[in-house]
Amino acid sequence: TTPLRLGIAGLGTVGAGVVRIVQRHADLLEARSGRPVEIVAVTARTKGRDRGVRLSQYEWEDDPVALARRDDIDVFVELMGGATGTPKEAVEAAIAAGKDVVTANKALLALHGQDLAEAAEANDAVIRFEAAVAGGIPVVKALTEGLAGNEVTRVMGVMNGTCNYILTRMQAAGLTYQEVFAEAEALGYLEADPELDVGGIDAGHKLALLASIAFGTRVDFDAMSLEGIGKVSIADIEQAADMGFRIKLLGVAQMSGRGLETRMSPCLVPAASPLGQLENAMNMVVLEGDAVGQIVLQGAGAGEGPTASAVMADIIDLARGTRLSTFGQPAAALKPATPAAVSTP
Ligand code: NDP
Ligand code: HSE
Repeated sequence: TTPLRLGIAGLGTVGAGVVRIVQRHADLLEARSGRPVEIVAVTARTKGRDRGVRLSQYEWEDDPVALARRDDIDVFVELMGGATGTPKEAVEAAIAAGKDVVTANKALLALHGQDLAEAAEANDAVIRFEAAVAGGIPVVKALTEGLAGNEVTRVMGVMNGTCNYILTRMQAAGLTYQEVFAEAEALGYLEADPELDVGGIDAGHKLALLASIAFGTRVDFDAMSLEGIGKVSIADIEQAADMGFRIKLLGVAQMSGRGLETRMSPCLVPAASPLGQLENAMNMVVLEGDAVGQIVLQGAGAGEGPTASAVMADIIDLARGTRLSTFGQPAAALKPATPAAVSTP
């Protein structure tokens, strides 16, 4: 049988995790995909660095764009991060060459996903991004497949592991912000620019992507009302706890008469509620559909294993031949998030 051939760009927390799973579970991946899944070539910024995984059997490409265009790969796996420059150019190059793309890059997709998805459709390619939203929780699949028969009424949840880690560890372990931040960094949770995490921007990117899938609307990150955890002090956290609450960075997306409303902000939630009990880098996503009612998904939202798990789900889907559109329906058919203003005579 013909193998599915991967080119992997980015060998950090997530990239190394993907290599590890491909090596550890070769038999299982072949059994589930119906064909072998093979890594052909890899790239990162620094060639010789020990990344804790065997890489010598793969070809090294210095330039991610050249990797994306290689004739001997079927899927370009983009795990570099960043919404501009090389990562964006490499994804564009892969699409132009008709390659499928798997990425964990929510920033790229929240800002350019519409154009990239339309370009992919024009080139008979598919972009998949399960790992970009809520790490190991298969929430993109839940919306695009499991709830495909529903009109979704609301999507909400905690979608940034770093912020949840900071908020819960500061309270439970009595650590300072700096101590907790250093722990999150060591665990591989942080974005390259941690302001994306604590500023609520990363969680906002994820909510914008989920809202697009849930409501069939164009990705509209700029329309979101956004506030991070920068102004939340330890005194706020303790005061909330004294009153029986926890502070969570909570995102909500719902349709109203004015169109899609999306907001990401620190909120008080009852300490005894499932959201209140969400600890460390856990994420929780609540989906509401007219037929199914409410679904609650909980799991690790960041880190090597959980994120690589989600990347692999997309890779296996492509190996199986699934051609589902990026946002669950053709990107060109997505509606504007806000209806055009009605002019009165
Ligand atoms: P890391 O910083 O750990 O790794 C990034 C990797 O990409 C490194 O290997 C780096 O090379 C390489 N890289 C970066 N820029 C370039 C470039 N211009 N050219 C070539 N190589 C480059 O990031 P993560 O693994 O944590 O994150 C990767 C992606 O996954 C990001 O989009 C992130 O948002 C997303 N993500 C991360 C999660 C996590 O928990 N960490 C969870 C969900 C999504 P070198 O190693 O040589 O510096
Ligand atoms: N920095 C992100 C987080 C990684 O902390 O949630 C997962 O998307």
